[in-house]
Amino acid sequence: MRKTIIAGNWKMNKNKSEAVAFANSLKEKISNIENVEIVVCPSFVSLVTLCDILKETQAEVGAQNLHWEASGAFTGEVSAEMIEAIGCRYVIIGHSERRQFFNETDDKVNKKIKRALTSCCLIPIVCVGETLDQREQGKTNAIIRTQVTKALESISSMQMQRLIIAYEPVWAIGTGVTASPEQAEEVHRLIRDLIEELYDEQTAEGISILYGGSVKPSNIADLLKQSNIDGGLIGGASLELDSFIEMIKIAEHLSN
Ligand code: PGA
Repeated sequence: MRKTIIAGNWKMNKNKSEAVAFANSLKEKISNIENVEIVVCPSFVSLVTLCDILKETQAEVGAQNLHWEASGAFTGEVSAEMIEAIGCRYVIIGHSERRQFFNETDDKVNKKIKRALTSCCLIPIVCVGETLDQREQGKTNAIIRTQVTKALESISSMQMQRLIIAYEPVWAIGTGVTASPEQAEEVHRLIRDLIEELYDEQTAEGISILYGGSVKPSNIADLLKQSNIDGGLIGGASLELDSFIEMIKIAEHLSN
């Protein structure tokens, strides 16, 4: 059984004191959560503190990016080893905002995934998704196939056991427009079939595929009820503690 994952992507929001207040309250409210993997992805400046606060709780901490080289003269960048050394378990790679605003290509995404996977235990959350234009032109499947195939180039089936994919249609991110559960399920099925084609059935069945794009308490249940949706990567609705907790509880309830 794949474990349900509820991951909050805070993007460039919350300063350190806001992040600390959130994490301290979160900690109090998740002690009875057993079946959901909770992940919080703050900005780099709050990572160390949040790893400390959430140590030995049900919540893990994730970074929003890393560099593909191990170390060196890359001003402004952060390495996998640095992230891992502070107790961070997850790292988001290839988010559409990074692809769109920071020129993150499929090739860079692949290099970053490989770097994360050469670390001891970092779990990459690899984001893929089509734009509205691409969907309207009927190119969704082709775009997803290309992004997934290129992201996973030279990744072994063994390494795949430590990788998560997030399907995030670009037109649904931060827009309030969610993919319908059926639309999302169709692409999740496509991704799982593609993993089977590239690897094998066991790898395909084992991989967690999260949905992201305007997930909120009112729509998360219907999304999670789809057989190929294993959790959510949540932006806006993860910034507010009550709505984040509500989504975690819904996920917990559904996985019982
Ligand atoms: P959203 O963002 O939930 O605000 O749409 C999701 C994401 O970008 O990961």
